[in-house]
Amino acid sequence: MTGFDASIYRRLVESSPDGVALVDAQNPEQPVLYVNPGFQALTGYSAAELIGRNLRLLQGDDREQDGRHRLREALAKGESCRVLLRNYRKDGRVFWNEMTILPLLDPQGRVTHHVGHHRDAGERLHIDPKLARDSLSGAHQPTAVAIRDDRLTGLFTLPYLEELLKRDWSVAQREKRSIAVFAIDIDALDLYNATFGRAAGDSTIRRVAHVVSGCLRRSSDVAARIDGGSLIAFAPGLNVEQALRIGQQMAERVRELRIHHPRSAVLRYISVSVGVCAAVPESSDSPANLLQKSQQQLQIAKKSGRNQAA
Ligand SMILES: Cc1cc2nc3c(=O)[nH]c(=O)nc-3n(C[C@H](O)[C@H](O)[C@H](O)COP(=O)(O)O)c2cc1C
Repeated sequence: MTGFDASIYRRLVESSPDGVALVDAQNPEQPVLYVNPGFQALTGYSAAELIGRNLRLLQGDDREQDGRHRLREALAKGESCRVLLRNYRKDGRVFWNEMTILPLLDPQGRVTHHVGHHRDAGERLHIDPKLARDSLSGAHQPTAVAIRDDRLTGLFTLPYLEELLKRDWSVAQREKRSIAVFAIDIDALDLYNATFGRAAGDSTIRRVAHVVSGCLRRSSDVAARIDGGSLIAFAPGLNVEQALRIGQQMAERVRELRIHHPRSAVLRYISVSVGVCAAVPESSDSPANLLQKSQQQLQIAKKSGRNQAA
């Protein structure tokens, strides 16, 4: 874009209702260099109080959060990342800080800065972060955190995946990029539970969930458990062929776990069926449609006995 001077760019960032933070990536402590007024409004801290410090200060002592670990990993790999963290305003009030962190590169491809785009996700998610923390620490309100995190597997829940898909859908639509959805189901799980008991079934679900998330390792990929042994995942930017390969990989890796299942008609080992679909979002289409299509593909995969359909 041409014809704008630097002051216009500055005003552009300063007028954003979202929080924007710029961090020095070449200093191991990743200190803040700049925060816009939106960030100050979000956190209650002034720019002077934040500059030179690492933004983990907003976590207070609430450090055991899955999002923090994922963010650390993405930063170490120089990847962009979107996470949701419980943060604390200057006055101590807790809120959901939904942030997208992106690396900025110099012409040699080195990461010089990170930029963060931040907003309060509380209203959108309808989850009280106070309750989420209490339930994490084993106190009351066990349902609150379950709205976002699936307690059994550590994956997300379906409502949260749907929220994320809606957002990535409009980005993909704008950028004309494809989104792939995977519907995954453990074959004959009821028979496995009947044979080995519920605890063994749960442990199998956990191991399968681990395999699925291991096949989708980019920070933009999202996996959730619907219920029982039914999982769902989406991956922005994958076309059908790439998605099919990953679906196949999921099925193979689950077989390689060699979890004995003597009553399964499929294999004698635990296996999964995978339904895959991928599309560049059309304005006439919707995220719910894509989820539904992946479920239809899953049913086709189950019926055909091929364990996979696209
Ligand atoms: C640009 C940028 C913005 C960040 N903003 C926040 C933030 O608003 N709140 C937060 O809790 N952590 C934020 N972080 C994450 C922390 O700085 C830190 O990377 C994270 O806590 C993981 O590192 P740690 O385990 O050493 O704390 C941000 C990181 C970057 C690079």
